[in-house]
Amino acid sequence: MLKRICGLGWEVYQALPLDEKITYLMQPDGTPFHTLFAQQFGLDLLTRLATLTNEIRAISKSKNGTEFLRSLLAHKRAMLYFSQPSSRTFLSFLSACQILGMPSGEVRDMATSSEFKGESREDSVRTFSSYFDLIIMRTQEKGLAEQMAWVLSNSDRPIPIINAGSGQDQHPTQALLDIYTLLRSFERTGGLRDKTIVFCGDLLRGRTVRSLSNLLLNYPNIRQIFVAPQPLQVGADIQMMLKERNIQFELTDHFHRAIPQADAVYMTRIQDEWDATKGESARIDTSRFTFGADELALLPKDAVILHPLPRRDEIDTVVDSDPRAMYWRQMRNGMWIRTALIAATFRCEHQVHAYYRN
Ligand code: NCD
Repeated sequence: MLKRICGLGWEVYQALPLDEKITYLMQPDGTPFHTLFAQQFGLDLLTRLATLTNEIRAISKSKNGTEFLRSLLAHKRAMLYFSQPSSRTFLSFLSACQILGMPSGEVRDMATSSEFKGESREDSVRTFSSYFDLIIMRTQEKGLAEQMAWVLSNSDRPIPIINAGSGQDQHPTQALLDIYTLLRSFERTGGLRDKTIVFCGDLLRGRTVRSLSNLLLNYPNIRQIFVAPQPLQVGADIQMMLKERNIQFELTDHFHRAIPQADAVYMTRIQDEWDATKGESARIDTSRFTFGADELALLPKDAVILHPLPRRDEIDTVVDSDPRAMYWRQMRNGMWIRTALIAATFRCEHQVHAYYRN
């Protein structure tokens, strides 16, 4: 845990290579203490979490089961600190806390917090850690969850932080639910291996694609096709990572040529909140990067369509009733795998297994 690097200093810690940083973030059994990066999740951990998620879902189907789950973390409290807009991530984490019996508090509107009076983020987070046992945070700023994890790990209340979206950079728990959805979707078609995943939309500024592209490296022979208008094509760092790992990938702006090759299409919205100048995104022609009836006709019959949501017009509502549209189920999966992640963070995995077996 980060606690071990007390005295290292933020600058020194920050300069460490990611692989080394990650060793400070994990618990001895390989579960994250702080969940900050998609890269913390290797195949073993992903498999463990998917199993735990399946068990929690099954247990939750009975009244006794829900009571058991609610007893697991009734002695812990969670703080949801979301300084950036959120519906699904916020509500699914809130529901996850409720499923585990964890009372929760929230700050979503900075105008009602002491940050409005000029309090620093460090002091806010240390304040939360005085009252709560877990902080789930979403921020506009890249790397802030990491910095706050470092602050807490060097304080006398080193409680875990879960990154619920950090700027344009990372959204590790979204990637977990995306992977879980792909695993379930491919159960009858050979599992998550030898598959082609087509990403479409704003791949430069969307953090979900960045995190998912990373997590897919854990599965054998996954080809990644990135479909975007040239100015919104996936970043050089992701391309470099894929090259270094010898992953087959392709960049294109030809959606209709990519769709017939897809086992999954992952749609994203244009992230215009990040425009440097007003209306910048509106000047890019994004009309060919949408999914409707024509695209459905090109999609193989066993393929699935994912979207982290919220959507605007990049998926036409006619697609919603197609059995290949997976995004509503994907959203609900988020609640379950976030429940599993929190349970694992607080080492409740064995209790869940034991209850499930009985
Ligand atoms: C995504 C996000 O916040 O990055 N939403 C989510 O968490 N489901 C995607 C988006 O906002 O486009």
